[in-house]
Amino acid sequence: MCRHERASCYHCVSDLRSEKIGSSSCHHCVSDLRSEKIGSSSLSYRWIGPFCTAFLISIIAMVVGFILMPSPIDPVEYVLPEPNELVGPLEPNDVLKHAERLYSGKLNGPESIVLDGDYIYVGTADGWVNVLHKGEVRKLVRFGQEPCGGMENEQICGRPLGMRMEEHGFLIVADAYLGLFQVNVVTGDYIQLFSSSTSVNGKPVRFLNDLDIGPDGKIYFTHSSAKWNRNEFPMLFMEGVPNGRLLVYDPKTEVVSELMDKLLFANGVQLTRDKSAVLVVETLKARVWRYDIKSGKASIWTENLSGLPDNIRYSKPSGTYFIGMARVRQKGAALIDALSSKPWLRGQLAKLFGSNSIMFFEKMLFWCGPLCGSPKALAVELNENGTVIRSMQDQTGEVIHRVSEVESSSGVFYFGSFDGNYLGRLYKKHIPGS
Ligand SMILES: *[C@@H]1O[C@H](CO)[C@@H](O)[C@H](O)[C@H]1NC(C)=O
Ligand SMILES: *[C@@H]1O[C@H](CO)[C@@H](O)[C@H](O)[C@H]1NC(C)=O
Repeated sequence: MCRHERASCYHCVSDLRSEKIGSSSCHHCVSDLRSEKIGSSSLSYRWIGPFCTAFLISIIAMVVGFILMPSPIDPVEYVLPEPNELVGPLEPNDVLKHAERLYSGKLNGPESIVLDGDYIYVGTADGWVNVLHKGEVRKLVRFGQEPCGGMENEQICGRPLGMRMEEHGFLIVADAYLGLFQVNVVTGDYIQLFSSSTSVNGKPVRFLNDLDIGPDGKIYFTHSSAKWNRNEFPMLFMEGVPNGRLLVYDPKTEVVSELMDKLLFANGVQLTRDKSAVLVVETLKARVWRYDIKSGKASIWTENLSGLPDNIRYSKPSGTYFIGMARVRQKGAALIDALSSKPWLRGQLAKLFGSNSIMFFEKMLFWCGPLCGSPKALAVELNENGTVIRSMQDQTGEVIHRVSEVESSSGVFYFGSFDGNYLGRLYKKHIPGS
């Protein structure tokens, strides 16, 4: 801008010299010239040049300095395949609008759900494992200590995520920060089976996520990262380094060993119906692995999912599997997809905004309406071969806004959500056409 102003004035001066100037545009310039403010002797213009240069240089220096500053993450490129079109079993629907919210406002982020007759167990953001019974929420056990509430305290307070009931009626809980626990659901007494401060195969265990239990009592469980805790999960997204694992705890030897490594955000865990394999969700790759227990070989069970998959659960009544999507992936509307091939940009963004602002942007995209992609909630049902056969959606997120897990019993589905304040329930008879 500065240079332009000067140029037009020089132009004006030369116009004046060649007597081309009349009443038109250069009055201001002319009068400046008359009072000898213009030209090399002009005080103001003499300073504008160096000032502009200094200003530009300092801007450039700041930008260069910023770019040279180390980023809090070491981002790498990863490939997310184009999400499938929402057609066939993924055809947009509002099945989840027939659901209802239970315990609304009384539960903060019930991610995983265990059904046990009249009793339901959920873990929440205040660190508690809760018992839900006849409309009441009772706190059963918390593995960490106060202060609690808020992401910044989770490391001390703990955050129960994946849960399962084992055959003797003990609840097995994966606390994202603290380890694996076995809980007496009557008394709330517990023992720690595995502490997250123990490294496995020489590598740290961060962000325990989900688990399932084999017929021999072995506990198969995931940790999502070797570097980031749960409350830093946006950094895990932004970095894209695959260092999540599938581990197994052997109750006979109390030893934990590694079964799979290099997973990009290892998440949900589910044994197959015949218990010969473990299905392992790899969230940031939008796919699920099948780990064969006998041979120790892993192959892809399903991929190109239309969302970032969270927990996976087997549904006994239907003999199928349900996956809740933490986020829906749609062409042109998925920030995480768009950034997957741009590690440099992710590194700069992580520097500029830190982990919270990135989630803020993501939330804005999530809520900015149909333009930014719908549905807001998606759960898919898959057959034993990993083929999606049905989906349940809520286009606007009015009733169910995200799904972490679908738990199913004979007549009913329950929906957990890591950031909802309710438990979703859908009677199967309320599903149109059922
Ligand atoms: C998933 O996407 C990849 C890459 O676009 C493609 O090669 C593969 O065939 C797709 N698989 C399925 C099951 O759609
Ligand atoms: C799964 O695949 C096997 C082998 O291809 C086939 O026999 C079976 O019918 C398939 N199951 C379903 C539910 O489609």
